Formats: sequence, C-alpha cells, structure tokens
Amino acid sequence: MIAVGDGLWLLSTPTSGYAVRLAGDATPTCAHWGPALTLDQARDLPAGRPELPVEGGAWFGVAGLQIRYGDAVRGVEWRHLDHAVEGDHLVLRMADRHYPLEISLHYRVRGEAIERWTTVTNSGAEPVTLLRCDSAAWSLPHRDGYRLSHVSGDWGREFQLRRTGLAAAETVLTSRRGHSGHHANPWLMVDDGDATEEHGEVWSVALAWSGSWRITVERDQHDRVGVSGGFGHEGLTWRLGAGESVDTPVFAGVYSPAGFGGASHRWHDYARTFLLDDRIRPVVFNSWEATEFDISQEQQLALAERAAALGVELFVMDDAWFGGRTSDRAGLGDWWPNPDRFPGGLAPLIEHVRELGMAFGLWVEPESVNPDSELYRAHPEWVLRQPNRRSTEVRNQLLLDFSRDEVAAWAHGWLDDLVRRHDISFLKWDMNRPFTEAGDEVWVPFVRNVYAIIDRLRAEHPQLAIEGCASGGGRADLGMLARTDQTWTSDNTDAAQRIAIQHGYSQLYPARTMGAWVTDSPNAITGRLTPLRFRFHVAMSGALGVGGDLLRWTPQELEEAAALVEQYKRIRPVVHGGRLDRLGLWGVQYTLGDEVVVFVWRPTTLVGGDAPVRLRGLDPDGVYRDEDTGVLHHGALLMSHGLPRPLPFDALSDLRRLKRC
Ligand code: DGJ
Repeated sequence: MIAVGDGLWLLSTPTSGYAVRLAGDATPTCAHWGPALTLDQARDLPAGRPELPVEGGAWFGVAGLQIRYGDAVRGVEWRHLDHAVEGDHLVLRMADRHYPLEISLHYRVRGEAIERWTTVTNSGAEPVTLLRCDSAAWSLPHRDGYRLSHVSGDWGREFQLRRTGLAAAETVLTSRRGHSGHHANPWLMVDDGDATEEHGEVWSVALAWSGSWRITVERDQHDRVGVSGGFGHEGLTWRLGAGESVDTPVFAGVYSPAGFGGASHRWHDYARTFLLDDRIRPVVFNSWEATEFDISQEQQLALAERAAALGVELFVMDDAWFGGRTSDRAGLGDWWPNPDRFPGGLAPLIEHVRELGMAFGLWVEPESVNPDSELYRAHPEWVLRQPNRRSTEVRNQLLLDFSRDEVAAWAHGWLDDLVRRHDISFLKWDMNRPFTEAGDEVWVPFVRNVYAIIDRLRAEHPQLAIEGCASGGGRADLGMLARTDQTWTSDNTDAAQRIAIQHGYSQLYPARTMGAWVTDSPNAITGRLTPLRFRFHVAMSGALGVGGDLLRWTPQELEEAAALVEQYKRIRPVVHGGRLDRLGLWGVQYTLGDEVVVFVWRPTTLVGGDAPVRLRGLDPDGVYRDEDTGVLHHGALLMSHGLPRPLPFDALSDLRRLKRC
C-alpha cells in the first residue's frame, strides 16, 4: 500500500513501513525503514540519508550514482518533477537542477518485500558518462549494535554463512566475474547486534542481477548505516547517448522484526509468490556424476531404466552428448548430437525415456565455446576478446560475446530448434567460466541478452523448465531465479558438507529451487563414506535428484532408494510449499497447515550433539501425531522441550512427519 503526504511517501507491507521524504534541497531521503507506521506518524519524521547518494555538495559517503557531463562537471543537484502511483508501484520523478538528466526512483511493494530500481535518462543532446549507477541505497535506523550476515565460498563450497560485527568502515561485497559468483552472493543482512533465528530486528537486501555487482555497507562516523548496491563493479564506465536511458536491476529489501528466520520466511514467500510458479519440481536423475564425459546411448538407456524403477520423474542427460565433446577440451558450441554416440540422433533415447514414464531434459552451456570446435572455426570473431591482449582460457573454453545481438540470435535459434524438434521439458543451463577480456560495454548487455533468451524460450515453450547452473551455484541470484525453476546448488554432493551449503542457500532462496542430488559413496569429490539414507535425507530437504551411478548400486540400495523417493513424494508439498525453519545447522523443519516435516542430521559420528530439537511455529494447544510411529506429541512440548534426537552412531539422520490431529 502506498500513502502520499506533502513531500512524503509511505510504503506499507503487511508488517513493515518505509517512508521517503524530500529534504529541503529536494534530495529524496529515507525517513523510516522498520516497523509499520501510519502516515500521520510518518509526518513527524525528519529527512534521513539519501535514497540514491550522488557526488556533490557535502556528501562524503559512497555515491551510488556517479556521472560526468560533457563539460566534465560531476554530480547531481536534485529537482523534484512529480510522482506517479499505480497500484503498488510508486515512481518519484527527479531531475538535475541544471543538466538535462532525469532520474526516476521506482518502488514496488511485493508482499513483505519492497523492490527498488532506478531509471536514468539523458534528455540532452550531448552524451554523458556513467561511472556508477546503483539501483538504490537503503538506510537503517540507529541501533546500539550492528552485525553483518552474508555468504562467501568457492566452487564446491558455496553459500557459507558468515556473521560478523559490522566494521565502522565501508564493507564491499562484490563480483568482478561477470556472474554473481561462488565466492559471494548478492545479498546481505544487518541485524541489531543480537538477533537470533526467531528474535530481533533484521534488515536485508538482495540484488536481482546475475552479472558483476557491488554492494557497499557503510557505517559512518555517526554510527549511521547505509547500503548502496547495483550492477557492475568498480572501474566500469558507460556512455549514455542523447535520449538514452538505463534501467537498473531490482534491489529488494525486507525488514524482519522476527530474526533471521523471519527474514528468510519473507524472502521465500516473496520468491514463491512473485518470481516462481507452482509447478511440481520433478524428481530428477542427472547423468553427470555417473558418467561424466564417457557416455553412450546404451549406457544412458540402461541408467534411464534404473532411474525409472526408482520413481524418478525426469531424466536429464548432462554434458558430452553433442559435437566432438568427448572431454572438456573440444566440441563446446557444436550443439548437435554426437554422431558416434547417438547415431540415430536423440530421438531413440528420448522416446525410450518417455516410454519409461519420465520427462526428458538436456544439459547446455550456450555462452561458452571450445577453441577446438566447428563453431569457433566458423566464427572466431564471436568470442569476447580485446585487441593486443592474450585470450584467457578457463576449462579450455572461451566466452561468446552475448552482448552482440547476432550471437544471442544464434543461441536462441539452436535452443529453440532443439526444444521444438524434441520432446524436451527441461534444460540445465550451465556457465563454467567467468568473463575475461571484456570491454566496459559488454558486462551489462551480455547478462540482459542471457535473460532475454531465457525469457523468450519460456514464453515460446511454456512446458519448458530451466535449471540455472554455473559450475554449481556460481550464478544463483534473484535475477536468475525469476526466470528459472531451480538452481544447481553446488557440485559438492557430499551430504555432510552439503548441510552448510544448503543452510546458507536457505537464508534467501526457497527449498523448491534448491537442486540436491543423492550420489555415490565414497563421494567423488571428498571420498567420504556415508549411508544412503543420510544422503537421501539431506537431498530430500530441497528439490530431490539422484546423480549416482545406478548401474553400480546393489539391489538392496536400489530398493531402499525407491522407498525413499516414494517417501519424498509424500512430503514434497510440505517441503516445497511450507514455511522453512532452520533448527540450528543440523536440522530443518517445514510446516504447511497441519503438516510438519522435520529433518535432523548428525554428519559426524562424534559423541555429543544430542540436544533435543525444538520445533517452531506450531499450535501450542494442538496435538501432533507422528505419521510413522503413531506417537502423539503436544505442540507446546514440541516447541519448549523438543523431539529427542534418537540417532545411533551409524544412522546419521532422521525424518519425522507430524500431523496436527
Ligand atoms: C558443471 C556443473 O556444475 C556440473 O553439474 C556438470 O553439469 C558439469 N558442469 C558438466 O560439464
């Protein structure tokens, strides 16, 4: 809801309020971000920090908008033009006092989230240069303490949650890689210093952008905290020609008065309601860990038969099905079935998979090319390259310049053709290298063209689901989530290590998007031996897949796996549609109406870790029946005393299904 006062705008979500006030010099400022307010209360608030700090005047903090006019003058002096309210969308139209530059600040209330973005228009005849164009700045009210939460990591170790005191300095989270990154993720939370999962105030922001990005948190000499964020990293510039505009990506914010758990609930609801659809995420079999580059039609058919017998719903053939791709050194870019491996094309495999009752999906990596490929030989000029500079290969591949429309048209053409000619309902869209040798003008249009191709494919093929992947979770963000169905969370499928990865992922992103496979033991990356049940219990807390070499699984393992897949299908509506509560690092609870699903893990066999698991958000007067044992529990006791953790040392996990009687 949006209420308008005199130079004052109040945006209200169901539980929070956000007030914008024009300062005396027309600077748009944040007067309030926190608990819900009435317009009358908001009228008493003074102006605060700028909504989009600019260079100029006595502002010495981070400037989210940095601009140079033709005469080398910089900065903006604000002038208010007007505003427009359309439903839940507010636009404050601003301009520079002297130069022909318009800046529209957009706000949209979506559930508990407020989306913000900025449009900058050069309305003059001379070009201007942008050095930085953030989406928005967010300002926090004064509190006695502040902590910063975010994730960092690496390939195979994504989404590691970090929580530290907020330095009295500028803290920069950024990616200079052209994708959002394994090492960081474009969101952060700041709390009042001692928030927990259930209590305390938490302010959180997330950028919907899948390329390079930068978010700076500033704690200044007066202990005021602000966060400015947007696309691109430092050092990039771009020209805005006469009459041209730039729209920034959405930088959304959520205020939670109910701790980090409350923040996650709000982000999950936002993503599920406004970014994702309700389609069931099928149980996937993916061939990568089982077969890597050594694939054949017969072997894929044999895997498909085993997968179908387990209850798998979607069979996905990963890398190495096309061109001369028999290793990572060749073939990328040649998107036709490898004639030695699939002499009759893809049709025989797809038909068989369909006869087995499964849908069919394929791996693609449209943005990359191996120099040893037909595509590169035909179009060496299509790759990202800079004159007088060496080309950097990563995983023996170069990047195609997707900022060029002819390259994007080629990619859309073969993808559309592939999906049109075959019964394909799922694409795993991978991207296995960062940008190098990219000119300033490439970084943003490249990502926009990736978005445009995916958006167009989905519009043309409404049945098509897409999984976003970049060597695991290297491009998982709200921008990608808004146009895909799920994320390949990490190449690390070791269930014990996966718990921390999933814990970090769940801070912002919902379980139904968290691709999680059960693979072999010992694990291919870590060598760890784990029971099949434990591997399943970790993967069943997201969007379950199976990625092991089923041809080597014993009849007992296949039988146990089939039973677990069946059990997963029963709990899937609760896991994917319910409220997610993290019960420490080693447990998670999902609640949907009267149904509750609880996973408890103990990833090491160390003595200890026996504390009971206290559940959250139940009806204290309700009685809950354990669906497997029939035992009855009082809601009040489940929340105050918890469930015992009955884990013997050789069974490292437990799954409880409870239902209110
Ligand atoms: C990286 C992905 O994360 C893997 O799952 C797999 O698809 C490989 N690429 C294939 O090259």
